[in-house]
Amino acid sequence: MCGIVGASGPGNQVPQLVKALSRLEYRGYDSCGIALQATGRIRSVRTLRRVTDLEQRLTTLGLESTTCIAHTRWATHGAPSEINAHPIMSGDAIAVVHNGIIENYQTLRIALSSRGYTFHSETDTEVIAHLIHSEYTGDLLVAVRRAVKQLHGAYAIAVLCANEPERLVAARSGSPLVVGIGAEHNYLASDCWALHHLTDRFIYLDDGDVALITPERIQIIDADGRDAQRPLFRVKAHDSAVDLGPHQHFMQKEIFEQPKAVRDTLAAIDTISPSLFGAGVDARKLLSEVDNVLLLGCGTSYYAGLTAKYWLESIAGISAQVEIASEYRYRETVTNRRTLVVAISQSGETADTIGALDHAKELGEPPATMAICNVATSSIMRATTLAYLTRAGIEMGVASTKAFTTQLVALLLLTLTLARLRGRLTAAQTGEWLDRLRRLPTDIESALALETQIMGWAVDFADLEHALFLGRGMHFPIALEGALKLKEVTYIHAEGYAAGELKHGPLALVSGAMPVVTIAPDDQLFQKLVSNMAEVHARGGRLYVLTDSSSAFDTAKDGRLIRMRDGAGMLSPILRVIPLQLLAYHVGCLRGTDVDKPRNLAKSVTVE
Ligand code: F6R
Repeated sequence: MCGIVGASGPGNQVPQLVKALSRLEYRGYDSCGIALQATGRIRSVRTLRRVTDLEQRLTTLGLESTTCIAHTRWATHGAPSEINAHPIMSGDAIAVVHNGIIENYQTLRIALSSRGYTFHSETDTEVIAHLIHSEYTGDLLVAVRRAVKQLHGAYAIAVLCANEPERLVAARSGSPLVVGIGAEHNYLASDCWALHHLTDRFIYLDDGDVALITPERIQIIDADGRDAQRPLFRVKAHDSAVDLGPHQHFMQKEIFEQPKAVRDTLAAIDTISPSLFGAGVDARKLLSEVDNVLLLGCGTSYYAGLTAKYWLESIAGISAQVEIASEYRYRETVTNRRTLVVAISQSGETADTIGALDHAKELGEPPATMAICNVATSSIMRATTLAYLTRAGIEMGVASTKAFTTQLVALLLLTLTLARLRGRLTAAQTGEWLDRLRRLPTDIESALALETQIMGWAVDFADLEHALFLGRGMHFPIALEGALKLKEVTYIHAEGYAAGELKHGPLALVSGAMPVVTIAPDDQLFQKLVSNMAEVHARGGRLYVLTDSSSAFDTAKDGRLIRMRDGAGMLSPILRVIPLQLLAYHVGCLRGTDVDKPRNLAKSVTVE
């Protein structure tokens, strides 16, 4: 999704800023650009191509500057085009880069047009540029503060003014922005990852903040117009994440990092206790008070929540609802004041999940809110009373893989904690669970060893345009996730279904051309699933079955089988998803898609 970077300080900042921008490329974008202060005027360079193209153009033009802002754009209002790429200018005076969506931009556009402003782009951002210009009376900070008061929606912006050469003004509401503190320079970014080659000291802006950034100082003014002090964080870089090592793509690397990611997520756990979810708060009291769990998330994180529902209800005996964050936030719901609200998010910046969490808080003052998140400093981590930090390491591939499996591990730890508090697990049983969790990285390695067999399946899928994924019980969400992974990285139309639903409609799709991937562990639903597969077989559907080593299958009749180790029990979803990730990855490679940056998609979806 869109990315912002900015810098102000002595010397030419352009090369550092371009590098910062390139560190945001993994998030997905369709155009990019830079605006820089150059001897009393603002120069802007934009391209529909990659950041390297921008870099080449800047070198050719010989442009240098001490103060600049840059952007990667993921189109929302207006097609991907050079004219819609940021920075967006108001005349020669004001340059703006913007993440987010301005909901009242049409009204503002009409009002500004009637005052003589001409619009050149289709973007909502252009109203911000003109609005700031219209409010400017000699002080950019004041103009930005006046302008943002008129905006409805979500935004993070960085602004330059031709009259104020060393000043950079930033503002945020609902979209993240962080100030990086250097020795002689100060920086700005939508994600501190962009600035790790420049500093490890960061200040996170709060919603409503407007900040003035110069080489010497940072001035922050909060939503009420008061000078604000925000805490300084030191955030360590994990630059090993940008090395592919022996892998061809980040997606493959991250799939293979799952044993380590799970091991790291479980590190330092020697017992199951509420304190896993919060050091400085009374986690035991908060978790003891709840009798219901509401899980909120989007996409893959939502599927993690769906899987956890099965665990929470059967292991902890607590009722659980799972809601798509973008739906829940606008729905009228019946509030249970003893609900634990859990926001699940890899990035911790997903606008819909943040909105849903805020909505839950507004509705019912739940006794506890919890983040399950992979980014310690993210907005969601800072917005909840309890949290579990998954330690997957930065995920560069747009399609979530290791973040998902570590979310599942965190949700299982939550389930076990609630089960213990509710008297559903003895100390001995808890110890057995911990032993099984500790064996999980090794079991994941066994699942990864299936890669060659999965590559065989991938050859069959490479020329297809449709696929079905079936599962039952806690493997139903894994079928959904398998289908999502396939459609994301291969552009094959894929659907996940609860296998029992097949005969209620989707069976009409089944023919000799339809591959049906079935997750079929030898559990209590196995015989039911065998019947569902017979329904597919009878209609000539092509079955691809993930089953256990001991389950009774006739390969001639039942299609292509891949057998996984027996006895995964409740941990089975975490293992079964791995071959499905590998399938999507290898089919994508065979079809020649950009598996790390699938078309139209973005990492960290910070707009609604
Ligand atoms: C799919 C995927 C997305 C995200 C979703 C939520 O591979 O990555 O569906 O899961 O956009 O993102 P987070 O987890 O950052 O809130």
